[in-house]
Amino acid sequence: MKRTHHCNELRPAHIGQTVTLSGWVHSRRDLGGLIFIDIRDREGRTQTVFDPSDLPKELFEKAAALRSECVVSVSGKVRQRPAGTNNAKIPTGEVEVGVVALEVLNMAEVLPFPVDDPEVANKVNEELRLQYRYLDLRRPEMARNLKVRSKVAIATRSYMDEQGFLEVETPTLFKSTPEGAREFLVPNRREPGTFYALPQSPQQFKQILMVAGVEKYFQLARCYRDEDLRADRQPEFTQVDIEMSFIDREDIYALIEGLIKRVWKTALQIDVPTPFKRISFEEALNRYGIDKPDTRFAMELVDMTDDFRASTFKVFSGTIANGGVVKALNAKGLAGATQGQIETMTEYAKSFGAKGLAFIKVEKGADGATIEWKSPIVKFFSEAEKAALTQKLAIQEGDLILFAADQWLNACEILGKIRLYCAEVLKAQGKLAIPADQFNFLWVIEFPLLGFDREQNRWYSSHHPFTAPVQEDIPLLKTDPKKVRGQHYDVVVNGVELGGGSIRIHQPDVQKTIFEELLAIPPEETKLRFGYMLDAFKYGAPPHGGIALGFDRLIAILCGTPSIRDVIAFPKTAKGTCLMTDSPSNVSPRQLRDLYLEVKAQKKEQSAPVPTNPLKP
Ligand code: AMO
Ligand code: AMP
Repeated sequence: MKRTHHCNELRPAHIGQTVTLSGWVHSRRDLGGLIFIDIRDREGRTQTVFDPSDLPKELFEKAAALRSECVVSVSGKVRQRPAGTNNAKIPTGEVEVGVVALEVLNMAEVLPFPVDDPEVANKVNEELRLQYRYLDLRRPEMARNLKVRSKVAIATRSYMDEQGFLEVETPTLFKSTPEGAREFLVPNRREPGTFYALPQSPQQFKQILMVAGVEKYFQLARCYRDEDLRADRQPEFTQVDIEMSFIDREDIYALIEGLIKRVWKTALQIDVPTPFKRISFEEALNRYGIDKPDTRFAMELVDMTDDFRASTFKVFSGTIANGGVVKALNAKGLAGATQGQIETMTEYAKSFGAKGLAFIKVEKGADGATIEWKSPIVKFFSEAEKAALTQKLAIQEGDLILFAADQWLNACEILGKIRLYCAEVLKAQGKLAIPADQFNFLWVIEFPLLGFDREQNRWYSSHHPFTAPVQEDIPLLKTDPKKVRGQHYDVVVNGVELGGGSIRIHQPDVQKTIFEELLAIPPEETKLRFGYMLDAFKYGAPPHGGIALGFDRLIAILCGTPSIRDVIAFPKTAKGTCLMTDSPSNVSPRQLRDLYLEVKAQKKEQSAPVPTNPLKP
């Protein structure tokens, strides 16, 4: 019995035809002596009917023995469903197949969880889904995610090809060159004590490809980072990795806007408006408290520093006198928060380093007419300070005003986290709309080239050490490195960092200054780690730049799922394990011996838990 149609294909136009379907028993209902079986394949499902009056007894008994997920082929005639029994939810819902032949290709044991229930992801422990991933992937929701991923990969490749890019594969057995995250190492049996490292990204190879004259490179590249995992991070993940020569930032913006337009059209039939808005790192922090703002809702941060410089409330004026700032935000509609909820929120802010979280609840007074500011700190505020707050924060009854007084970056980041926290609560209470089908793309630009690590007393690269400074800021490298802006850009959508890249340094002397003078990497180490790159740059390196988009994050956004695990066929758990294959696993003493390795300590470091929103609905 050879398949004639997929299970999504049959329509009233096929009525009267004899067809053969192959697939899995999706669901079965026994009604009025008939057996109804929905057959499911990759494309969809179709109702089939086994009628004992039309079938040999033996065949009907075979059908009666079928369980969910048995694999079958059935043949029969397509017919109209009886009046009133159409299923508008599926495209084949107007017809059914009256079965005349059945072949049972394989039986299935009772499943650990049902495949025909769209709520499985909410009801079933994710570990069980990952252990039986082959069953989880049969669910139409997951099959759709894999399909979107494949279609978008193909659309990406054809777009990049049309734009004149070459797809070049780069090695995944690479060299240890810390780029940020911890690396996965691969021991080399040929020389004891030497290791390959799995690449965190193809960054260095793609730059070398520019020196090699490739001019336009791309790759759907596998990257490996041994970092603490979250819903949007996996130890191995995929990037749409891109590099181009003889270009500036505008070329990258235009290329990526075109790619995103194509991808959104392919996957969602949505026309994304371009060009994307641009916002500087500083403005993003000032207004949203984060470098990847979700701009689908406002609730912006407001700077109150000038208004509280001379305040009698020392928490504010003292911070300002120490070079800090006072930032506030108005969570409209949250005045009803209980003392307990405010304490929880304060603890949450403290987990990110806040010293406190001053607040004002704006509520009706006891007389029911006047509006009262309920807060332990308002008694310290002058009339002018109160007037400034009322005006700048547009204060009304029902508002909850929250403050952070700290050094600029800390104050912004603390309130940025609180902004998202409040938004989540307000959304759950139905007081704030954050439309899931709206995509607010943004370029975040003008990042500082360097950050300063107080603990280690040294500079580090905000993006990576190959990022070029903004041309006019180069003299500041020697005098005021903090002020140097990098030619770095991130593309952000709805609060997710989709990708990032930069124009690179292509002059070996500037690169050497960054490595040795600013990042304080000793010259011998620079040579050991990056010598080949500095050498390559001596032989005619074109100016170049590029970007990498997180492909898994891109697909997760298109599929409307918060977890990238839902768009990766075989993802790892938050502990970095694969529950289906049970990896990582021990290896034999012989394998260890061959690699000149000895296992000393079994005990592993515990990583600190990531703070989460305790009010999260
Ligand atoms: P970056 O480190 O910013 O840049 O990574 C680019 C994008 O990759 C995605 N991403 C991840 N996705 C899933 N799991 C992870 N653990 C993970 N880490 C990163 C993010 C991120 O924006 N070589 C540079 C790019 C360049 O300069 O061209 C790089 O890798 O979406
Ligand atoms: P205190 O004077 O320390 O009792 O603080 C008074 C109020 O100010 C409390 O509500 C604290 O949570 C809050 N607070 C303290 N320090 C800060 C700060 N740096 N930023 C914002 N609020 C603070």
